[in-house]
Amino acid sequence: MQGGEVLTFTIAVAGKGGVGKSTFAALAIRQLHEKSKAVILAVDADPNSNLGEKLGIEPGKTVGAIREELASLGEEPSKGMSKQEFLDYQVRLSLREGEGVDLITMGRQEGPGCYCYVNNVLRQIIDSISSKYDYVVIDNEAGMEHLSRRTTRSSDVLFVLCDRSKSSIDAAKRIAALATEMKLAIRRKVLVYNMRDAVEEVPQRDVVPSFDRAYSLRRSGAIQAMMQKGESLTDVPANDPAVLDVARVVDSECRFKTA
Ligand SMILES: Nc1ncnc2c1ncn2[C@@H]1O[C@H](COP(=O)(O)OP(=O)(O)OP(=O)(O)O)[C@@H](O)[C@H]1O
Ligand SMILES: [Mg+2]
Repeated sequence: MQGGEVLTFTIAVAGKGGVGKSTFAALAIRQLHEKSKAVILAVDADPNSNLGEKLGIEPGKTVGAIREELASLGEEPSKGMSKQEFLDYQVRLSLREGEGVDLITMGRQEGPGCYCYVNNVLRQIIDSISSKYDYVVIDNEAGMEHLSRRTTRSSDVLFVLCDRSKSSIDAAKRIAALATEMKLAIRRKVLVYNMRDAVEEVPQRDVVPSFDRAYSLRRSGAIQAMMQKGESLTDVPANDPAVLDVARVVDSECRFKTA
């Protein structure tokens, strides 16, 4: 973790199920680290957590599990510890370190309405942890419900992944519209067409309205093979087409400190 307060650059990744959100998030984390040398905070906000696997990190206790533990412990969770102190301690303890990245796993979401106080406290804790990092990357669950919740409220860039299917492009449009409608503080919305066969500049006509820019991302045989074997993406070669394409996107869209 970085020392002192820094201005955090936050990117969120969203899109329909299976379009490559977690793959993009893992490769973006790698590029952000390589370029900035900073330790990146990865937030796995998908209840069906698998960002850890892609990053080669065994996830720690989930924030959802910590919330449930607190609920089962009653008013005084631990001797002399307030609920807030308990949550703060447990969440910080649940952080897992990988190569150039720390991982926080959100796990199951709260039931509707019933944990307001706890969720506010958790949000503050996660905001406080995030503020210590130069870069935060949030891998969201499929769909858009999650956009309304804590993690994506304010982001510098929202990357929305899609493939060639009309349904995934429609989902991307809905996500962008929802983000606007909910007045989420997102500086740029960027569409990423995944699984392309060749490197290509996305023609202007393919930049769907309400997105600032679109990029394409090539399909990688190596990544497909590694995922089938359940391997992490840490060893994908630097000249892999998808690695190169994500690096290009990250370099264009993310702010880097000049030395
Ligand atoms: N550019 C790519 N080249 C090759 N394989 C890819 C690429 N992008 C994604 N994949 C593969 O597609 C599958 C789905 O990718 P991934 O898990 O990243 O999607 P997701 O959007 O996070 O899915 P979910 O909605 O389930 O969280 C994985 O097996 C992944 O390895
Ligand atoms: Mg995923």
